[in-house]
Amino acid sequence: MRNLNRSSSPNGVLLAMASLFVISAIVVSKGYYKEMSWFIIPTTPLMPWTDITTPSYMNQRKRKELPEMGSSDNSVLVNRTRHRDERLERLEADLATARALIREAMTKKLMSQTILPLEDTDYVPQGDIYKNPYAFHWSYLLMERLFKIFVYGEGEPPIFHNGPCKDIYSMEGMFLRFMETDTHFRTWDPEEAHVYFLPFSVVMIVQYLFHPIIRDKAVLKRTVVDYVHTISHKYRYWNRSLGADHFMLSCHDWGPRATRYVPQLYYNSIRVLCNANISEHFNPKKDASFPEINLKTGQIMGLTGGFPLSNRTILGFFAGGCHGRIRPALLQCWKDKDQDLRIYEYLPQGISYEEMLKKSKFCICPSGHEVASPRIVEAIYAECVPVLISQRYVLPFSDVLDWDSFSIKVSVSEIPNLKRILMGISEEQYLRLRKGVKMVQRHFVLNDPPKRYDVFHMIVHSIWLRRLNVRI
Ligand SMILES: *[C@@H]1O[C@H](CO)[C@@H](O)[C@H](O)[C@H]1NC(C)=O
Ligand SMILES: *[C@@H]1O[C@H](CO)[C@@H](O)[C@H](O)[C@H]1NC(C)=O
Ligand SMILES: *[C@@H]1O[C@H](CO)[C@@H](O)[C@H](O)[C@H]1NC(C)=O
Ligand SMILES: *[C@@H]1O[C@H](CO)[C@@H](O)[C@H](O)[C@H]1NC(C)=O
Repeated sequence: MRNLNRSSSPNGVLLAMASLFVISAIVVSKGYYKEMSWFIIPTTPLMPWTDITTPSYMNQRKRKELPEMGSSDNSVLVNRTRHRDERLERLEADLATARALIREAMTKKLMSQTILPLEDTDYVPQGDIYKNPYAFHWSYLLMERLFKIFVYGEGEPPIFHNGPCKDIYSMEGMFLRFMETDTHFRTWDPEEAHVYFLPFSVVMIVQYLFHPIIRDKAVLKRTVVDYVHTISHKYRYWNRSLGADHFMLSCHDWGPRATRYVPQLYYNSIRVLCNANISEHFNPKKDASFPEINLKTGQIMGLTGGFPLSNRTILGFFAGGCHGRIRPALLQCWKDKDQDLRIYEYLPQGISYEEMLKKSKFCICPSGHEVASPRIVEAIYAECVPVLISQRYVLPFSDVLDWDSFSIKVSVSEIPNLKRILMGISEEQYLRLRKGVKMVQRHFVLNDPPKRYDVFHMIVHSIWLRRLNVRI
């Protein structure tokens, strides 16, 4: 499946990639591509909200850890500390080179005769759907060559190492399963890892420990606090970065809440969340947004595909419950009011939801209880252009994808004008959006086992970018 050979020496690979870069980079032209907002070049302090990763702080820590010279007992400790620091420094040096290469790629102009796209047997990212396809490709290949993830072995299923693979929270279980069985990114040696995964499932904690009548959320707190306590006492990695190179992942509504009980997890760690709500302290510099995918039967095959444009007879479609703040406005304005804009709270008997997605030009995706909505991926799968109505939502993979090239954003105040807005989109514009939807599909598709550039790899890539923004 992967044709890219891994070298045993990351430094050698980096050197080779760096020289390839020089060869391919014939023309340098700044500002050709759209502004890149996702890649933050580390400066000091790296993370303004905490000083844990600033070099000066780390130096202080190292100095404190070094025992007094002279005592024979301590010399072993000194040696071990040095050895460990050297390994970390090597990892950090590799990341620094990767950072520099990606940064360089961001300034390059990609034209067929001058800079050739990077070679890739499977796929070459190109086109409007990317903020910067060339830089993304570099970053992606570097991730494949270098990135190492350590999964803590502590904890027992069903709450750890396991999650739901069906229904609305299925991405939590799918990611856990893929990570547990991964052979490419996963390492069993924590010393060579760039990030450390805390493999708990919020969905499983709620399902197995949360009492539906007593409704005591303390179980969530206890489980997460105990887990971080265990790994931070057993291993030295948590304390080394105060959690900044650790990540958790959850699609559950309570995913963000689950991290709140451990301040370092909340403020320092990489939180990979479906509910990427800025108002709930989702921080796009360190946290990553990933898509909610509703696997209604647990089946991941045959979910994509829609009717040709000539058969898309419905302008816009939505069917769903009246909850949250946005949907009541949508339903009040449009429910059962218009033949072109089919807005339902409950689908009438005999009408297939999947069929409606396939024969609509636009699929309306308003936030419900939470900012994320599985409708976005349903629309992308059905080749229906998503109409996003949400507030304070950080869209999945928006660090590399240009959502404006394959979706429409409508603000809540414009809901009364929805029909006019959609009618105002020219045929040409629509065809461009639809082409974008088809192109971006591969990044939202699940494969078992995962395939390059699919949704699993996009999530790992988001984590890779967040890790590049930190220096331990
Ligand atoms: C410290 O490490 C060096 C090699 O790096 C080794 O030769 C030496 O014996 C070590 N000292 C102790 C006390 O372990
Ligand atoms: C990490 O820090 C905590 C509290 O500061 C301490 O109790 C624990 O022993 C440390 N862990 C390790 C492995 O040193
Ligand atoms: C398009 O619609 C026509 C008439 O409803 C139908 O016969 C045809 O099978 C449809 N084509 C596709 C690809 O769905
Ligand atoms: C986002 O978070 C804020 C603050 O908790 C909340 O008021 C709002 O309802 C959330 N948005 C959605 C769609 O849930």
